[in-house]
Amino acid sequence: MRGRIFSGMRPSGRLHLGNYLGALQNWVDLQSDYECIYSAVDVHALTDMQGDVTKEIKPNINEMVLDWLAAGVDPDSSIVFVQSHVREVMILHSILSMVTPMGWLMRVPTFKEKVRQMHETEETVSYGLVGYPVLMTSDIILYKADTVPVGEDQLPHIELAREIVRRFNNLYGETFPEPQAKVTNNPVILGLDGKNKMSKSLQNHVELAYSEEETIARIRTAFTDPERLKRSDPGRPEICNIYTLQKYFNSDKLDEIYRRCTSADIGCVEDKQMLADSINEKLADFRERRRELADRTDYLEQVLGDGAAKARLIAQETLSEVLDRMNLSVR
Ligand code: TRP
Repeated sequence: MRGRIFSGMRPSGRLHLGNYLGALQNWVDLQSDYECIYSAVDVHALTDMQGDVTKEIKPNINEMVLDWLAAGVDPDSSIVFVQSHVREVMILHSILSMVTPMGWLMRVPTFKEKVRQMHETEETVSYGLVGYPVLMTSDIILYKADTVPVGEDQLPHIELAREIVRRFNNLYGETFPEPQAKVTNNPVILGLDGKNKMSKSLQNHVELAYSEEETIARIRTAFTDPERLKRSDPGRPEICNIYTLQKYFNSDKLDEIYRRCTSADIGCVEDKQMLADSINEKLADFRERRRELADRTDYLEQVLGDGAAKARLIAQETLSEVLDRMNLSVR
């Protein structure tokens, strides 16, 4: 039997090159070996969005899911759905929160980091944020997924999921498989500032869905080797973020680019133009598909509706089993 994958992405809107090379590409590839369930995790988004900004969630989901589908996530073979559309996850989250010691949650390194990032303290931070990994565990085990493709940063969450599963199974009998992390080759893609990981919030990103002109204009703004001041100075590809991107988008010309940059045969302007041209070429089919899908009225709604229906069937079965085991069943 094929294994079952669950993975989720927070609805951040249009995806960028970093999201593609780090996660989306893997999602597409995994479909040939696994039964895949992919979710836009909108409830998780609420951990750092409150009030008026929640109106951004729906359009963000739509933009993001369009990127998934255009990249090759296939809603006929995989389940593609929005987390909150299958409400069983909230019930399982409550139940699991009862078997999860606070100590486990407070020790999760991403929790401390997030509290710091949000300029909060452990006093002011929401109860929901503390429970973030419990909700993530609920996502995974509600569908009895055995494999979870994640980046390195999410490993503590999967470890915690395994501990929660062990505890639940001990208390109520073997119910859930222990999910395994599948650490995908998840390269850190630097942003155009050359300092930080590519991210939308830092505005150092290149969206997959940009037009060719936008791509070229955006890449032109990138920082390169700060010590290369004149066109005749030799460049240092090792420290240049454009070169890092060339590895993915001009892999066949990499030696040539290295040689011509270090010998000042090409300048940063030409280097960037080569990169932008190649990104445009490699994403041409994706962009065309994305436009087609976006033009089809009701298509997204249909995909997400079907996805939720399929996900709900599995979720209801699991939740009934859980309630039975806990003697909470109404029957
Ligand atoms: N926490 C994940 C992230 O920020 C998103 C996520 C939510 C997820 N639920 C999940 C990932 C379940 C894998 C499985 O990237």
